[in-house]
Amino acid sequence: MPHTTNDEVRTAVRDRYRKAATASQSCCGGADSGSASCGCGSSQKSTDIGYTAIELAALPEGADLALGCGNPTALAGITAGETVLDLGSGGGIDCFLASKRVGPTGKVIGIDMTAEMISKARANAVRGGYDSVEFRLGEIENIPVADSSVDLIISNCVINLSPDKGRVFAEAFRVLKPGGRLMISDPVLLKPLPEDLKDNVALLTGCIAGAMVKEEYLAEIRNAGFENVRVERESQYAKPEHLSSLAVEAGISAETVALVAESVASVAIFARK
Ligand SMILES: C[S@@+](CC[C@H](N)C(=O)[O-])C[C@H]1O[C@@H](n2cnc3c(N)ncnc32)[C@H](O)[C@@H]1O
Repeated sequence: MPHTTNDEVRTAVRDRYRKAATASQSCCGGADSGSASCGCGSSQKSTDIGYTAIELAALPEGADLALGCGNPTALAGITAGETVLDLGSGGGIDCFLASKRVGPTGKVIGIDMTAEMISKARANAVRGGYDSVEFRLGEIENIPVADSSVDLIISNCVINLSPDKGRVFAEAFRVLKPGGRLMISDPVLLKPLPEDLKDNVALLTGCIAGAMVKEEYLAEIRNAGFENVRVERESQYAKPEHLSSLAVEAGISAETVALVAESVASVAIFARK
């Protein structure tokens, strides 16, 4: 963000996701949402982005806030006994799905910098009886986890929100065990957005303006030391009609919405330490 400080970005992001955590129903289309202002920019449902109805039905009520842009646990090849870390865990959706896969001998840790999200996720864990899932308050640029202690890092529609993505990948590299892997879903740009959109707070907190050009994003991951960096899946982030609430909030024209829709892709990226 050329004219916005890192602290201003974090404050704006926290404000938006505090609202998402405290809305009484799912943000995208929930009764209290009113607009897209409490979540990521697209109004797609979780079944549109890769979750199965069976997965969603097994979750504790309130865990699916429809804030993701993929289903990283489905692609990560998780095995029993693994330790999984979720960067930006929100209401805990991917932590709970990972927990089913690692089983009672494994462990799942979710990190989020929004206190209200952590409270919500913890309540969801208690409600669903997820004893081996732990939620820690913290920033993904300063991950509160020991060096070389994690088998797999997942993240879903979060790293685009960070003002220091290089630092996030360096921290991810630090906490992974040698041979550990990364499986992240995130929006990336297929072409740069116009300069004047980059400081648009609604587009930033709505998971669009902070997205990096795909090749630069992959280069950041490699620069942190990761190997075998590859895009496992790629699809359109959102159709224009899924961005209508965000467009109103961001004050952008239908023409700009169309440009955004064709410029942003949702990717699932694998990498290994
Ligand atoms: C779009 S939501 C995604 C939540 C969850 N991964 C999901 O798929 O439902 C982004 C989440 O990341 C958190 N977040 C954003 N930036 C963060 C950062 N720098 N450090 C820690 N958490 C962050 C927000 O508080 C929010 O809960």
